[in-house]
Amino acid sequence: MISFQQVAVRYPLGNVALEDATFEIEDNEFVYLVGPSGAGKTTILKLILHELVPTEGVITIDDFQFSHKNFKRVAELRQKIGVVFQDFKILPDDSVFENIAISMEIKGYPTKEIRKQVEEALALTGISDKKTLFPAQLSAGELQRVAISRAIVGNRKIILADEPTGNLDPKTAWDIMNIFKKLAISKTILFATHNTDIVNSLRRRVLVLKDGRIIKDNKKGGYKL
Ligand SMILES: Nc1ncnc2c1ncn2[C@@H]1O[C@H](COP(=O)(O)OP(=O)(O)OP(=O)(O)O)[C@@H](O)[C@H]1O
Ligand SMILES: [Mg+2]
Repeated sequence: MISFQQVAVRYPLGNVALEDATFEIEDNEFVYLVGPSGAGKTTILKLILHELVPTEGVITIDDFQFSHKNFKRVAELRQKIGVVFQDFKILPDDSVFENIAISMEIKGYPTKEIRKQVEEALALTGISDKKTLFPAQLSAGELQRVAISRAIVGNRKIILADEPTGNLDPKTAWDIMNIFKKLAISKTILFATHNTDIVNSLRRRVLVLKDGRIIKDNKKGGYKL
C-alpha cells in the first residue's frame, strides 16, 4: 500500500512542486499520473523513491513511513521499487542480460536465482532471444523492454514509470503497454504520461495533477484535456 497524507514539496525560492497531496494506492493497483508539464508527476515518483524529501506531510509505503525527518531505511525501501524512464537509462557497455541482472548481483542473490528471474523477465517482455546482445544492437522498443525487465527482477512489488512510452512510436508504445498490463496483475504501478490515447484506451484509475495539486482522482479511468 502507498499512502500520501497532506504531502507538500516546496523549493526555497517559493516554487511549489506539490501541495496537500493525499491519496492511497492499493497493492496491485494501476494508476496513471497525468497533467501538464510541471504539474508534479515526477515529483510524486521521486518522493516514493525518497529521492526527494517532503517539506510537509507523511508518506507510507507498506511498513516504511517517512516525512521531512531523517529516514534511515532508504536502501531497503528502494529494494521494493523498480523504475522505468522515458530515456531507458540502459548501460551501453553491458549486455542485455547484465543490464537486467546487475541489481540482483549487487544485492548478492545466488547466481541460480538471478538466472531464473532474468529469464522470466526476458520471457515476459518478449526479448529472450536478445539476452546476449548489447544496447547498440537494439531498437528503442527493445531497450524499453530491457528497462522493464530490469525494473521487475529482485522481487520488486512497485513499478514507477515516468513517461515510458514518450520516445516510442505509437505501435511500439502499445506493445509496451501490453507488457504493463501483464505486470499489473502482480505489481503496483504508477505510470506518469502525457499520452491521452493510452489513458483512454487502457482504462485504469487516473490522478490528474495541475500546478502541484491533485485536481481529480478518477477511479473509473479516462481523461480529457
Ligand atoms: N530542483 C528544483 N528546484 C525548483 N523547482 C523545481 C525543482 N525540481 C522541480 N521543480 C519544480 O517542480 C514542479 C513540478 O515538477 P515535476 O518534475 O514534478 O513536473 P512533471 O509533472 O513531472 O512535468 P513533466 O511532464 O514536464 O515531466 C515544476 O514546476 C518544477 O519546475
Ligand atoms: Mg516529469
